[in-house]
Amino acid sequence: MKLLKLIANLGYGSRKQVTVLFREGRVTDADGEVLYTDDELGVHATHETIRVDGEPLDPPQGLLLMLHKPPGYVCSTKDKGRLIYDLLPPRFRLRDPVLSSVGRLDRETSGLLLLTDDGALLHRIISPKSALPKVYEATLANPLRGDEAALFASGTLMLESEQKPLLPAEMEVLAPQRARLTLHEGRYHQVRRMFAAAGNHVEALHRVSVGGATLDDLPSGDWRAMDDADRVKLFAG
Ligand code: URA
Repeated sequence: MKLLKLIANLGYGSRKQVTVLFREGRVTDADGEVLYTDDELGVHATHETIRVDGEPLDPPQGLLLMLHKPPGYVCSTKDKGRLIYDLLPPRFRLRDPVLSSVGRLDRETSGLLLLTDDGALLHRIISPKSALPKVYEATLANPLRGDEAALFASGTLMLESEQKPLLPAEMEVLAPQRARLTLHEGRYHQVRRMFAAAGNHVEALHRVSVGGATLDDLPSGDWRAMDDADRVKLFAG
């Protein structure tokens, strides 16, 4: 691949803008030797040795990130208001292939959100074959009635305008108005609709884990790249 295409695809600018970076001698190898638009990756430089303004390049394609999504941010590249991309380096929004969220969390839902630019990995994470459990903690408007766990575990709960009942889900009571719910599928607004079907209302919702991936002590609003060990943990969950 030509270095021009590589660097433009990483979101450093349009081809025209990146051409200017090259012309100004701002793209170099690790020894400060100037590189050129037509130079080839793997022939004239590797991803690890390229520098832009002396800084290493952003990570190559195949990125998997975890974000601690705060409430109030939308999982979209173009929407009104605050977007999850506002919490990432600006270049990440401009990458090709795009960095997309793995499924979505509602605007007011907080917690673990995965993002990747690897389509095959995204499908593997959301595939019913992988059956990665997703764990949520919900704060409710009203005290639990006591029959919710059985209802959610029944495998017969049918949400409004759905054709198929929900798969069995596990619920644990944390407090009279707090519950932990483990889902094995991802339907639209699923947790909120499940509690609505049980005569309650979710006031706050937080995703704790996806598969074996957890936020640990990642502060709200922060993100980090997931390495090979994180990926093994994700699918082992
Ligand atoms: N279920 C919901 O209702 N909202 C989310 O954001 C995720 C799961």
